[in-house]
Amino acid sequence: MRVAVTGAGGRLGTTLLKQLGREDFVRQVLAWDLPEHDLDDPASARRLISNYKPDLVIHTAAWTDVNGCAEQPSLAMRRNGAAAGEMAEACAGSGAALVFVSTNEVFDGLRADARPYRPTDLPNPINPYGESKLAGETAARSAFWATGDEFAAAAMPSGSDRDSTVPALAIVRTAWLFGLPGTDFPQKILAAAREARPAGTAMKLVADETGCPTYATDLGAAIVQLVKESGRAGGRGLGGIHHIVNGGRASRAEWAREVLRLAGIDIPTEDVPMSTWTRPSTPPRWGVLDPTPLPGGPLRAWPAALAEYFELIARGT
Ligand SMILES: NC(=O)c1ccc[n+]([C@@H]2O[C@H](COP(=O)([O-])OP(=O)(O)OC[C@H]3O[C@@H](n4cnc5c(N)ncnc54)[C@H](OP(=O)(O)O)[C@@H]3O)[C@@H](O)[C@H]2O)c1
Repeated sequence: MRVAVTGAGGRLGTTLLKQLGREDFVRQVLAWDLPEHDLDDPASARRLISNYKPDLVIHTAAWTDVNGCAEQPSLAMRRNGAAAGEMAEACAGSGAALVFVSTNEVFDGLRADARPYRPTDLPNPINPYGESKLAGETAARSAFWATGDEFAAAAMPSGSDRDSTVPALAIVRTAWLFGLPGTDFPQKILAAAREARPAGTAMKLVADETGCPTYATDLGAAIVQLVKESGRAGGRGLGGIHHIVNGGRASRAEWAREVLRLAGIDIPTEDVPMSTWTRPSTPPRWGVLDPTPLPGGPLRAWPAALAEYFELIARGT
């Protein structure tokens, strides 16, 4: 397979490139990022697909600055919504499969029954980033529906003719990614701890926002496995909505305490509500996803993944 990865220099894109490069089923990996792939340019996706003709695109590129999205919602819609639709149309038109990476922020997080969100639950974003990513999901489904993709068609008006050999669309929702490169939540906590320690002040940690910390390396491996196994099964098993996160759940405060413990930093902490700080974007309070089945079984629990990430940082690799 010839596989293209958009957002190739991002957190997920970087690990996907490495992992795909080690796979026998991959003939060529195409790394797409700015300036060659530009979410602001409506012709960018079509141009790349027609020039390189990949069999599969893993679309990780996005404007992930949630506060920026809240301040400029139309730009968020352009980058995360319209551009995803254009990539989907270009893929569907050329017979390429598409994995569109989406987010737990398509859900409002208002449920009070402590049940994780399943793919069948109704999205209802409460911030412009979530709205723009849901718009991307919808645009991708609509583009693949036009080809007869069964999963995309399931949410669309019935009555169209379906072809069993159509390319697949997979929507992979994930949450709270950590890993290199870039400044992720664990690194922000370590920087904040270094500042708070000399002053002797307690570190304030948000206790009323819950999610699934997920190691980008584990997510990348799961996506690669999904593609590989569905290839063996003649394309079956890829299409649909997948929720891929590490096992378990945590509040921001619990996640931060585990970061501090692994780093051997002993400082006082104080649980506070997220309303302590005002931010342009409001995250869902309950952003927990129910993991969907994976060919290699469920991902390990997040503390084990975080511990491995710390070993990697300590080795400087
Ligand atoms: N991070 C999370 O916690 C999280 C949680 C749930 C879902 N997701 C989803 O997972 C996917 C990957 O996230 P990530 O953490 O790997 O994101 P990331 O590190 O922010 O990487 C995003 C990538 O998109 C590229 N990009 C940004 N603006 C672009 C533009 N205008 N044109 C073309 N490329 C552009 C970036 O390029 P530059 O670096 O050159 O700007 C970067 O390569 C995204 O779709 C995101 O919505 C992320």
